Amino acid sequence: MKILLINIKELLQVRENAPKLLLGTQMRDLPTIKNAWLYIENDTIRDYGSMDNCIELEGFKPIDCTGKIVMPAWCDSHSHLVYAGNREQEFIDRINGLSYQEIAEKGGGILNSAKKLQETSEADLYKQSAERLKEVMRLGTGALEIKSGYGLTTEAELKMLRVAKKLNENFPITIKTTFLGAHAVPSEYQNDKDGYLNLICNEMLPKVADQKLAEYVDVFCEEGYFSVSDTERILSEAKKYELIPKIHVNQFNAIGGVAAGVKHNALSVDHLEVLTPEDINALKGSDTMPVALPSCSYFLSIPYTPGREIIDNGLPLALATDYNPGSTPSGNMNFVVATACIKMKLTPAEAINAATINGAYAMGLSDTHGSITKGKKANVIITKKIPSYGYLPYAFGSYLIDTVILNGEKI
Ligand code: NIG
Ligand code: FE
Repeated sequence: MKILLINIKELLQVRENAPKLLLGTQMRDLPTIKNAWLYIENDTIRDYGSMDNCIELEGFKPIDCTGKIVMPAWCDSHSHLVYAGNREQEFIDRINGLSYQEIAEKGGGILNSAKKLQETSEADLYKQSAERLKEVMRLGTGALEIKSGYGLTTEAELKMLRVAKKLNENFPITIKTTFLGAHAVPSEYQNDKDGYLNLICNEMLPKVADQKLAEYVDVFCEEGYFSVSDTERILSEAKKYELIPKIHVNQFNAIGGVAAGVKHNALSVDHLEVLTPEDINALKGSDTMPVALPSCSYFLSIPYTPGREIIDNGLPLALATDYNPGSTPSGNMNFVVATACIKMKLTPAEAINAATINGAYAMGLSDTHGSITKGKKANVIITKKIPSYGYLPYAFGSYLIDTVILNGEKI
């Protein structure tokens, strides 16, 4: 299968030797070729250049991209896309005055989703999740991380991860899986958190590893959920199985989770709505990617991650959706990029870098995703006719995608 795109108004994020990640001022640059062509063979980007020297291929019709921008598909490094049912009632409860934490304390929140998921068959869970996956693919996402964490029993956690793995096999999108058994303490263990930690360490982790269901491990490190020492216990145990940490920290309180993540060589620390100078210092010089989830802040009306400050401190930043039924019922990376510009004061170039190259880094996909580079996966978005790439976050409510190509397939 061969695809040649011609007359591309601007080909974005073109990198001959793509860096693994971009930090600080490097995030300002978005290398582009104006009036470009792009050649795809099977699932791989083969070549590109300026229309002044376009390759000629006999026997098939190129796709004319006059007036359109072509860029790498989004890399969404943090999602909980596999879940059962919804939580609209809690949304209404919040409108009527209850807080996200108050709802959780009343047995709603994550425990509500866990109950629904435990009662849902694997086939039904797959079906519900596949619908969401098709939608995010149409919205231009080409690589996605999916966490467990709504099972909270060994069987239900494994079920979630099997569904995520099956989605990876059946759809032309790259999916990375993360084991998040420590998402909340289930009701059966309400007064015995250590008992649940033992279950995670002695039963869940060995099974997840043995069945090769996840590459990453996550913990919701937060007051009322898992402490820094709980987090460290799980990360140390997970290391024995070579599971790499990608953790939820600083959503509501800064309790030292960032430093703990860095100490355990976390690939990413995610949320960071509350960030202290100590957290920024802990991240400096580390290989850990800070990840902001602005549509979660939007939906919960909580502070936005200080992304401007993170970048101005010379650090990298990635953007992801956090797609889940409680805090972010949206998997739209276009909205995430726009919100990062509007609310976090990132420039369009910084936001696009954060949602492509840096997102790929935050799920271990730097070598294959996140830029227009020869040999990387043929995952691209072709926009509608738009004046410039800055128009994408500017016209934040418009659907500006014409075509999405993933693994060299038009979807
Ligand atoms: O990343 N904060 C923890 N976990 C999810 C939301 C969980 C839920 O409310 O279902 C998040 O926001
Ligand atoms: Fe999350």
